[in-house]
Amino acid sequence: MHPPLIVGNWKMYKTASEGREFIRDFLKLYTAKSSVDVAIAPPFTAIHSLHEALQSSPITLAAQNVFCEHEGAFTGEVSPPMLKDLGCTSVILGHSERRQHFGEDNDLINRKVHSALSHQLRPILCVGELLREREAGQTNAVIEKQLLEGLKDISAEHMGQMTIAYEPVWAIGTGKAATVDQATEVHTLIGAVLENTWGTKRETIRIVYGGSVNPDNADSLFQSPQINGALVGKACLNPDSFVKIIGSAHRSLN
Ligand code: PGA
Repeated sequence: MHPPLIVGNWKMYKTASEGREFIRDFLKLYTAKSSVDVAIAPPFTAIHSLHEALQSSPITLAAQNVFCEHEGAFTGEVSPPMLKDLGCTSVILGHSERRQHFGEDNDLINRKVHSALSHQLRPILCVGELLREREAGQTNAVIEKQLLEGLKDISAEHMGQMTIAYEPVWAIGTGKAATVDQATEVHTLIGAVLENTWGTKRETIRIVYGGSVNPDNADSLFQSPQINGALVGKACLNPDSFVKIIGSAHRSLN
């Protein structure tokens, strides 16, 4: 099994200088634990300065999005080679905020997954249901569709590069995280879909949870063997709470 993965998604917060300040404070509090992988996903504009600031630490850099072409006349877009060149090793794809505000559908997300993989950027594919879908009993169907379409034609070999983030949309930024049972149930479903479709063994892929993870609920979430880490939004913007969540992941291994 891989070590748990904690990813801090900064969303559209922090300028490059604020990012450098954060890393300075964060590194004072953070003691590297080889048992937990940590990645930070800053806005594009802060990637370069974070790469420098994190140079002597084991923290890796993720991007929050990428376009599916490797170059061309696509004003305003950023390609996988550009991110690789800045030191990114992974990329968040299919985040619900991209689906909701920027009209990204499973087909576009799938093209981005293929493109990232072909440039050795490891995708963190987000899936998750809306509140009304959960209330209508459609959670499993929604998750399955997002997986089958988002991962269409990905080879079994490439599946080893993937991380899946289960992010129920109703839990993102609301302070109302999924319960351990709710998350465990969906993580189990995701594992089964990957195994049935790609033959992916559960222990070879990380399925992380995202949606209002904070220092108070992280311990209990990480108790579930199905929850292999977290994608953290709000609580990663503060060095102290981000370090506490990493500490919870570490403790869950003992
Ligand atoms: P949140 O965001 O932790 O603020 O709920 C999580 C995410 O959107 O990845």
